[in-house]
Amino acid sequence: MFVLSAVFTVLFCVSYFVFSIGENPTMVLGLGASNVALGTCLGMALLLIGVGAIQWARKLMGDEEIVEMRHPARSSDEDRAEAVASFTEGVDQSGIGRRPLIRNTLLLSTGLLGLPAIIALRDLGPLPGDKLYHTVWQRWMRVVQDVTGVPIKPEDLQVGQLVNAQPSVFYRPFNPKDSDGNDLTAAQAEERGEEPVEVPEGVDLQQEKAKAATIVVRMEPSAVTPSKGREDWGIDGILAYSKICTHVGCPISLWEQQTHHLLCPCHQSTFDLADNGKVIFGPANRALPQLPLMVDSEGYLVAQSDYTEPVGPSFWERG
Ligand code: FES
Repeated sequence: MFVLSAVFTVLFCVSYFVFSIGENPTMVLGLGASNVALGTCLGMALLLIGVGAIQWARKLMGDEEIVEMRHPARSSDEDRAEAVASFTEGVDQSGIGRRPLIRNTLLLSTGLLGLPAIIALRDLGPLPGDKLYHTVWQRWMRVVQDVTGVPIKPEDLQVGQLVNAQPSVFYRPFNPKDSDGNDLTAAQAEERGEEPVEVPEGVDLQQEKAKAATIVVRMEPSAVTPSKGREDWGIDGILAYSKICTHVGCPISLWEQQTHHLLCPCHQSTFDLADNGKVIFGPANRALPQLPLMVDSEGYLVAQSDYTEPVGPSFWERG
């Protein structure tokens, strides 16, 4: 087989020169003769080496089992003593014991080498602080349709409908408001130390949008069972929840109108929006955060506050 393999290798080389390619290639059965010959010869050469090696191992090599006893890993006393003596001699010869200045500066320089690695950690970016606990939502901020930025009124929503929403500040600056939701004058805002919130831009906009993404659903008011303290978080069966799954953060919007269940497509966590966003199935272990809603003087849906708990994956959840 090995001889045959050698023959095919030689044939490969010969075919390379014998068959013409290019404008008038030599053809065999409608195929380029050069390709066929090169492929066949090389394939056969490799195959015969492989088959020959297998035959050799199976038929010619011995297959008796050989047992090798394991020896103790510990070196003999003589070897250990010799190693210690050699080490001591090395230390003596280096003079490190007699030259404390050199020794100490060497220790200092090697010790300090760890610092660059630690300092480079700073490039991972500023610490998030409490950013993970907040979104840009705030009291009196309008709930607007995602993409179009159109503010939403309760009458725009049919029972069973789900709308993807965002806070209005992604479309226009948000002015400080008085306790009734009216814009403060510049002087009043300055007096209170408040400033308009500008529309974020670039990466900031993307990050804040991802965190503040919200879904607004309308159910029959009788179907909703708010937990204690959430009785006034909805308007006639209209409730708002974070769109970010509390498992690992997929955006959710598979909405089952009849059951009021919201299904995450990533790992099938299912949340009951009529029951405070509770998890009823799947790996998420925390209810969907709910955004408290109210209506402003012009009849538009607005937030009562930011989300009252962190949105998204619950890895930072306390307790
Ligand atoms: S991200 Fe929603 S179930 Fe995993």
